[in-house]
Amino acid sequence: MSARVVVLISGTGSNMAALMEAAKDPAYGAEIVAVGTDREGTRGVEAARAAGVPTFVVPFRSYSDRSAWDRAMSDRIAEHEPDLVVSAGFMRILGPAVVGRHQAVNIHPALLPSFPGAHAVRDALAHGVRITGTTIHFLDEGVDSGPIIDQVAVPVEDGDDESSLHERIKVVERRMLVDTVGRLSREGWSIDGRHVRFGRTDTKENR
Ligand code: GAR
Repeated sequence: MSARVVVLISGTGSNMAALMEAAKDPAYGAEIVAVGTDREGTRGVEAARAAGVPTFVVPFRSYSDRSAWDRAMSDRIAEHEPDLVVSAGFMRILGPAVVGRHQAVNIHPALLPSFPGAHAVRDALAHGVRITGTTIHFLDEGVDSGPIIDQVAVPVEDGDDESSLHERIKVVERRMLVDTVGRLSREGWSIDGRHVRFGRTDTKENR
């Protein structure tokens, strides 16, 4: 049986689109059961609707504070009974109501723990690094701080600006995301402290 995956996005949704494409193959092991967003009218959410995937919108401004928004987001996710939540270009920090209830992974356009936060590509360029990349990690209650599952390096080229570098990162990011979500769905995983392993074992934290 395929794993039930809810994808969270805030913008273009090119990573979400790559996952939806992969999930067309029943052997992939994951089914995208819903796409959630914090903002209406983005390209990503329109594309999900056009593909016939159920969507939900939980606008930040409709709630009195961050924890009320977080609880609403958690409840909307739960309606779809996911085995895994994938934050793929979701630009708000998910709090304890989501992270404590759902197994969730996030992609980040830098080699964590370098350059966490909302402007990772810009920050890496400003710092003058020659190598950056992308990370997929489990979410915890910190900012881009949870256990790392996989990383892929991307060299910075002379003359790169934020947009050119981010586009090259996104090419490898989509591959990494599709590969990782497929493996998590088919093989399961265990987490031992900061270390993630594919495959089901007998440890207490086995999922
Ligand atoms: C991706 O590069 C993702 O890593 C990044 O947003 C982009 C979304 O692209 N996420 C973050 O920066 C989260 N802090 P997409 O909408 O085309 O998939």
